[in-house]
Amino acid sequence: MYSKQVMDHFTNPRNMGEIPDADGVGEVGNPVCGDIMRITLRIEGDRIVDAKFKTFGCAAAIASSSMVTELIKGKTLDEAWSVTNRAVAEALEGLPPQKLHCSVLAEEGIHKAIDDYRTRHGMPPMGDGSQH
Ligand code: FES
Ligand code: FES
Repeated sequence: MYSKQVMDHFTNPRNMGEIPDADGVGEVGNPVCGDIMRITLRIEGDRIVDAKFKTFGCAAAIASSSMVTELIKGKTLDEAWSVTNRAVAEALEGLPPQKLHCSVLAEEGIHKAIDDYRTRHGMPPMGDGSQH
């Protein structure tokens, strides 16, 4: 049911953990499945220099967290904001339809962490704060 990439990122997750005194923190959850994802970012200037995740969830949620942290590291905040759940799912060589929402959680987690950083620095949030 899962691709090789999903299995790889699930069994050998990249960037698992938490950045102490992170510059941006995003915690999101899905009330339906109960999964929770916490993203912490280290930001220097306009660039994400490190990203870590802690996810309490299914294999697809863990693989999505691992992949999204890999995708945004080294990117500017604007570039990282544009990383969609579709891009995460594609990088994972696809997710089963009933597991696509797990990649949505990853996109939401990044958005929330970036907006946390922006808010702390007196900038308006880029998102509308809504959760799907
Ligand atoms: Fe699972 Fe949206 S339904 S994150
Ligand atoms: Fe809900 Fe994976 S089953 S995030």
